[in-house]
Amino acid sequence: MIRTEENLRAAFAGESQANRRYLAFAERAEREKFPQVAKLFRAAAEAETVHALFHLRVLKEVKSTKENIEAAIEGETYEYEEMYPKFIEEAQDEGNRGAVRSFDYARQSEIVHADRYKKALESVKSGKDLETVDYYICQVCGYTAENAAPETCPICEAKKESFKKIE
Ligand code: FE2
Ligand code: FE2
Ligand code: FE2
Repeated sequence: MIRTEENLRAAFAGESQANRRYLAFAERAEREKFPQVAKLFRAAAEAETVHALFHLRVLKEVKSTKENIEAAIEGETYEYEEMYPKFIEEAQDEGNRGAVRSFDYARQSEIVHADRYKKALESVKSGKDLETVDYYICQVCGYTAENAAPETCPICEAKKESFKKIE
């Protein structure tokens, strides 16, 4: 059973990665004017999500919303306090500036996520949903803005047009 649990985790990770990889490949195929190949990538990406979610269900990792928010806070906090600082340091040592930037953008975004989740946890604990609000995501760094896209991204300085509204 322990081996199966490890395998489920590995399969969940692999399928999740395949989903994002195929979506990136689809964008590239669109740019290279292969729209039907792009569609195939998007179709397979959707199927990989089905696989990933099935594995996750068997792992029983989706719990109550309160527990899920707690898990999210733990994950985000680990990322910005431990994982990314270490990754950034190592990327600096190896002179990989692209990696430094990518890790730093992610680290700064995770701080905001952890903060938003903490507010959500307070709401859910008192039996209330969060107040109605729109979210806008910076497509360069992942900064998550509330209510409106800022004129300039506070993390990466991208302009307002770089933000995508979450429907
Ligand atoms: Fe799959
Ligand atoms: Fe995050
Ligand atoms: Fe940004």
